Amino acid sequence: MTAPLIDPFARAITYLRVSVTDRCDFRCVYCMSEDMKFLPKKDLLTLEELDRMCSTFVKMGVEKLRITGGEPLVRRNIMSFFNSMTRHLDSGALKELTLTTNGSQLHRFADDLYAAGVRRVNVSLDTLDEDKFAKVTRWGRLKQVLNGIDAAQKAGLRIKINAVALKGFNEEELPLITKWCAERDMDLTWIEVMPMGDIGNEDRLDQYWSLKDVRKEYENHYTVTDLAERSGGPARYVRLEESGQKIGFITPLSHNFCESCNRVRLTCTGELYMCLGQEDMADLRAPLRDHPDTEQPLEEAIRAAINLKPKGHDFDYSRQTVDGKMSRHMSHTGG
Ligand code: GTP
Ligand code: 5AD
Ligand code: SF4
Repeated sequence: MTAPLIDPFARAITYLRVSVTDRCDFRCVYCMSEDMKFLPKKDLLTLEELDRMCSTFVKMGVEKLRITGGEPLVRRNIMSFFNSMTRHLDSGALKELTLTTNGSQLHRFADDLYAAGVRRVNVSLDTLDEDKFAKVTRWGRLKQVLNGIDAAQKAGLRIKINAVALKGFNEEELPLITKWCAERDMDLTWIEVMPMGDIGNEDRLDQYWSLKDVRKEYENHYTVTDLAERSGGPARYVRLEESGQKIGFITPLSHNFCESCNRVRLTCTGELYMCLGQEDMADLRAPLRDHPDTEQPLEEAIRAAINLKPKGHDFDYSRQTVDGKMSRHMSHTGG
């Protein structure tokens, strides 16, 4: 291994999130417009290039690799990429290989993912109501996702459900979703909706349901205790005393967690974003493609990029009305 990646604020970068495609079989209303234009396939890193990128990061100290999208499991031949990353788990360099998925293809891939060394999967699910699910995803079938979750649990994968908190949409479902997760021994994390990407006529300010209010909603039903643990991620946790359940809250807007940030994001086109909420990025595709026989220029580009990692994000709903909205899509950057 080479010298570890340390940013200017003394944070060690050990977690790489990789978007392997901007495509998705759903069009969630807070994520994409209905007529979302996807990138031309030729702009995407090939699976071999993704392998070189990720392997270089692992060599430079990345211990956790999360594969995202878009929907990572709609990328053709994606299992060959997972299978190839298994060698880094086997060598001990990589501690965790995981993914965030909408669950629509999990029934097809659950066993193979487990065999590749994946042990935990985060599944996005905002409602347990079939009609509401079809509405929020624009045409997704809830049943298919639930089958996928069942298959994943049968395969031995631990599941975390990510629910985006949406005002007037899943507020009243909170006790039901919570109970459903407890019965299946699945973790649950609520996410605040973030101002990213053009979503057409939808208005995120209308959708924004502060997690402070989500917490109040829990307090109406349960005894809520704050937990100190942070698990290296952006979530803060509470325990519901009645069920013993641990619930996560990801609150980039109402609470900032940047001081302990350990991650960077690689887009499907080979740009490295140092922060989900900042536009600064470095192009890693050129140093990779221009030097097929050596990773040294890529390593130098990665180190230079990490030296530019900002102290924190810059999300601000008040700027959205003018031109402050982030044009970048979550599916491009990988959530
Ligand atoms: P684990 O902690 O490993 O379970 O995963 P995670 O929460 O990092 O990953 P997941 O893909 O489930 O992330 C859920 C969502 O949290 C992401 O899609 C983002 O919306 C949000 N999120 C994750 N990391 C960051 C971050 O660094 N900054 C901000 N602002 N939001 C983040
Ligand atoms: N704000 C918050 N969460 C979002 N996601 C996608 N777009 C947004 C947004 N604008 C979530 C998905 C998924 C994760 C990868 O990101 O629901 O759980
Ligand atoms: Fe697809 Fe996830 Fe975006 Fe929904 S939130 S459209 S499932 S990438």
